[in-house]
Amino acid sequence: MNKKRHLTAAFAACVVFTLGGCGGGSETRYNTEVGESRQFTWGVPEHIPLPIVPKDNPVNEPMFQLGRHLFYDTRLSGNGSQSCESCHHQNQAFAESLERSIGSTGELHPRNAQSLVNVAFNTTYTWANPALLTLEQQILVPLFGEFPVEQGINEDNKARVLNDIAADPIYQQLFTAAVSGDAAETVNFEVIVKALATFVRGINSFGSDTDRFENGDANVLSRDAERGRELFFSEGLECFHCHGGYNFTNATADSSQLFADTPFHNTGLYNIDGQGAYPEISQGIIEITSKATDMGRFKAPSLRNVALTAPYMHDGSIATLEEVVRTYAAGGRNITNGPNAGDGRANPFRDGFVSGFDISEDDIQNIIAFLETLTDYQLINNPRFANPWEE
Ligand code: HEC
Ligand code: HEC
Repeated sequence: MNKKRHLTAAFAACVVFTLGGCGGGSETRYNTEVGESRQFTWGVPEHIPLPIVPKDNPVNEPMFQLGRHLFYDTRLSGNGSQSCESCHHQNQAFAESLERSIGSTGELHPRNAQSLVNVAFNTTYTWANPALLTLEQQILVPLFGEFPVEQGINEDNKARVLNDIAADPIYQQLFTAAVSGDAAETVNFEVIVKALATFVRGINSFGSDTDRFENGDANVLSRDAERGRELFFSEGLECFHCHGGYNFTNATADSSQLFADTPFHNTGLYNIDGQGAYPEISQGIIEITSKATDMGRFKAPSLRNVALTAPYMHDGSIATLEEVVRTYAAGGRNITNGPNAGDGRANPFRDGFVSGFDISEDDIQNIIAFLETLTDYQLINNPRFANPWEE
């Protein structure tokens, strides 16, 4: 039985249980009328539309600050050992260096931790789940998920987790500032999830050298990076089809546009049985849709800050950007030995835009030079996103 389907079922139960059943709901009023206004410190420049914000969780500063404290707090886990930050580090654009994450009880996650920068603009969440449409839904997975266990909050420990948080005077202030109502009742998982979503929604970055270049600073890119940029946006290499737009992914949504279904792509990383199979542990949206042609199809990640987020791909199976570019040049990955042996270049589900190309050694370095200009150093040093418990 496929474990990922368990995750989906557990997750669905969680939504009902957590958001419907944990109290607070109808009595809770949020201290805000700000909604999707520019008054919130979005970190989104005027020429970029604001992200979509769920009507029942408008952004505001007190919720952002509450979420920031929770994001960095290991008390928000079943055994007190793990916070969101355990797998999402600011200095790595909120990704981490492990190939695959390890949860609070030591369980190995099937996938690589994603960057959390500009995820407010995502059409869907995680590497491959067309059904996860909001941050509020996604955040239930690390908190309560059982396959795998991440923060490991469950029936047996959830009261203790809430009590620990409610007992801390710092949280008493933060909850009172964010939510009106009886203090004891506002410390519940509905508010916690909404606050975490607001914090993550507020982690935005448009301060890379490439942003400066797009905004008219013609001299900010090196000659190598500019050449790499031309290649990236060329029909020969095709990168921009899946990693285009202001967020360098085609899986982008915002408040100004209507968009069709999120695209998911097979990039030819595996072909274990000669018929396109990816390793059982993580096979893409087929785990959700059960459609044979969805084998190996994953969301194209944003390439912002990609120089900081190694290792790469849904399972962290590519160590460097150079190796990523060489894999695309070959039109997929040919694995010659081991349990995952198989020629991904011949994967029948491989996307038509991943068909391989000839490229010089210099131009490989030029593309990497361009990808490095997508790093926002202000973001990774910004005190607004840093651990508030260390202030
Ligand atoms: C055990 C490590 C771990 C912990 C703890 C963890 N995450 Fe993650 N996070 C991951 C992994 C791995 C993924 C990719 C999941 C997948 O594709 O199935 C991910 C994905 C995400 C995404 C989706 C990003 C996107 O681009 O779609 C968001 C948002 C996120 N995490 C936020 C959080 C928040 C908020 C917390 C704390 C409540 C948290 N994470 C705790 C490992 C972790
Ligand atoms: C058909 C769509 C498509 C095209 C074309 C494409 N990519 Fe990707 N890219 C993806 C998908 C999907 C993934 C994730 C695949 C996975 O994990 O299985 C990805 C992953 C990556 C990653 C890893 C990012 C991370 O955070 O792990 C990099 C870097 C990357 N692509 C760069 C490029 C470059 C450079 C080009 C052009 C040579 C390119 N891509 C062309 C869809 C595409």
